[in-house]
Amino acid sequence: MICLENVVTTYRTRRGDVNALNDINLRIEKGEFVVICGPSGSGKTTLLMTIAAMLHPTSGIVSVEANSLYAMSVQARAKFRAENIGFIFQMFHLVPYLNILENVLLAGGTVNNSNKNAKALELIEKFGLAGRHYHKPAELSAGEKQRTAIARALLNNPKIILADEPTGNLDSDNATSVLGYLSQFHKAGGTVILATHGVEAGRFSDRIINLHNGKVANPDKP
Ligand SMILES: Nc1ncnc2c1ncn2[C@@H]1O[C@H](COP(=O)(O)OP(=O)(O)OP(=O)(O)O)[C@@H](O)[C@H]1O
Ligand SMILES: [Mg+2]
Repeated sequence: MICLENVVTTYRTRRGDVNALNDINLRIEKGEFVVICGPSGSGKTTLLMTIAAMLHPTSGIVSVEANSLYAMSVQARAKFRAENIGFIFQMFHLVPYLNILENVLLAGGTVNNSNKNAKALELIEKFGLAGRHYHKPAELSAGEKQRTAIARALLNNPKIILADEPTGNLDSDNATSVLGYLSQFHKAGGTVILATHGVEAGRFSDRIINLHNGKVANPDKP
C-alpha cells in the first residue's frame, strides 16, 4: 500500500515560493490502477515524483508497504526505488547518446542481475522493437520511444509503475497500445498510477483522483 500523509511540497525559487502540493492525504492499495487527473500545473508530476522516491516533500510522510521513503538514507531510497518502482516520464527521457538497448539497461540501478541483458532484449522484442536495439532514440517514432521507456520501466520487475502522461505525445493507436501494456501489468498484480489531463485512461482504471491546485478534489472518505 502507498500512503501519503499531510504531504506539502513547495518549490523555492528566486522569484518566490510555488506551492505544488498542498496537504495531500492519499491511500493507494496494492494492485490498484489509479488515474491522477488534473489540469496543467495542478501538481501531477510533482505528486508522481514524490511517490517515486525522487522528490523530497517539504513536509509530510510518504510510505510504500510501510517503508517511509524520506526517512531512509539516500542510498537505501535509491535501492528501494530501483527494486520496486518503474517510472515512465512525461517526455520519454531517453538518453540521446545511448542506443535503445542501453537506454533500457539504464534502469539497472543498484539491482544486480546477470540476466539483465537478456531481459532487456526480451522486453524490446515484446514491445515490437526487435531489430532496433542498436538505434538511437532520434531514429525512433514517438510511439517507439514510449515503448522503449516502458521497457526500461519494466526491466527490474517493479511492483509499482508510475506513468506521467504516457500517452500525451502519441496518436490514438499508439496510446491504446501503451494503455494496453499498462493494463497487462495491472492484471498481473502490479500497481499503476498514471497522471493525465485526458480522460482516455479512465476506462482502464479502478479509480480517478482529481487534483486541483495541489489538492485532492475528491478525497478518500475517512
Ligand atoms: N522546479 C520547479 N520550480 C518551481 N516551480 C515548479 C517546478 N516544477 C513545477 N513547478 C510548479 O509546481 C506546480 C505543479 O507543477 P507540476 O509539474 O507538478 O504540474 P502538472 O500537473 O504535472 O502539470 P502538466 O500537466 O503541465 O505536466 C506548477 O505551478 C509548476 O509551475
Ligand atoms: Mg506534468
